[in-house]
Amino acid sequence: MTFPTTRPRRLRMNEIVRDMVRETRLSPEQFVYPMFVCPGEGLKREISSMPGNYHWSVDMLVEEVRSVKSLGIGGIMLFGIPEKKDDRAGGAYDDHGIVQEAVRALKREVPGILVITDVCLCEYTANGHCGLVSGEEILNDESLELIAMTALSQAKAGADIVAPSDMMDGRVGAIRKLLDANHYQNIPILSYAVKYASGFYGPFREAADSAPAFGDRRSHQMDPANALEALREVELDIEEGADILMVKPAGPYLDIIRMLKDRYPHPLAAYQVSGEYSALMAAGQMGWLDLPRTMMESLIGIRRAGADIILTYFAKEAAKLLR
Ligand code: PBG
Repeated sequence: MTFPTTRPRRLRMNEIVRDMVRETRLSPEQFVYPMFVCPGEGLKREISSMPGNYHWSVDMLVEEVRSVKSLGIGGIMLFGIPEKKDDRAGGAYDDHGIVQEAVRALKREVPGILVITDVCLCEYTANGHCGLVSGEEILNDESLELIAMTALSQAKAGADIVAPSDMMDGRVGAIRKLLDANHYQNIPILSYAVKYASGFYGPFREAADSAPAFGDRRSHQMDPANALEALREVELDIEEGADILMVKPAGPYLDIIRMLKDRYPHPLAAYQVSGEYSALMAAGQMGWLDLPRTMMESLIGIRRAGADIILTYFAKEAAKLLR
């Protein structure tokens, strides 16, 4: 059949029909809202490169998470800004570190909220690197123990899911082993399995004060030009015990999301990172783009590509629009 018998526009003529035939939908429980927690009291400090995002002290975080939960958002992802940083990232695996204290408070005060913790050393090392360093080299095997200890202390504090983002080889296995040995065999690992060395993390490094003091992250994060390598990363992580896979960033890597969704039955997450957020926000503030519309379009694109879960700084705004 062809035109004029067939007219695709028939199904686009009004919103009730469009709504009926829509293939992809967003809903707030698929969103995870990344949040930054810092020491102090009564603090809500806006991150200048990420308007609408804040450094929260634990007391204020608790209040904010109540409202996040009331919007039906699936969960939050916590990042910590520690009091002090050192060579061995002591704040990352301190049982009274900032993330551990925040998790304890959230689990006590906001029942039913899903708390995911980012597992990495870069927010806690004085040089901003994701692992221990010798000269210019980021050490792999030597860093694994500290990364696993970080995940364990977050699990002890009550984290529902741990999410390693460091990209050291073998970290999922090291975390799984240490969690299991300490009776946390039921805590899932959401692995940043496919994490690219991306310029879109720029605003986050201001947010987490974690810009590397020297060098960059290209010796552990993936080359943006590579797709097949993502399959190898994912296979390793699955073998080591990853429960949920993640691709990061999201928007520039929709082909990777689709490729993984077609090949693996695991739940798949995608992280719409700080720079994707800030670029849209800035264009919206300039009046160059319609922000609500492009925000929702960017999210539906990530979902259409195959993501089951979306980490996004737009979680609250998008959830409000979906109501
Ligand atoms: C930690 C980490 C980073 C992000 C999440 N976890 C920064 C990085 O790898 O440099 C970036 C998140 C964002 O840009 O929103 N390693």
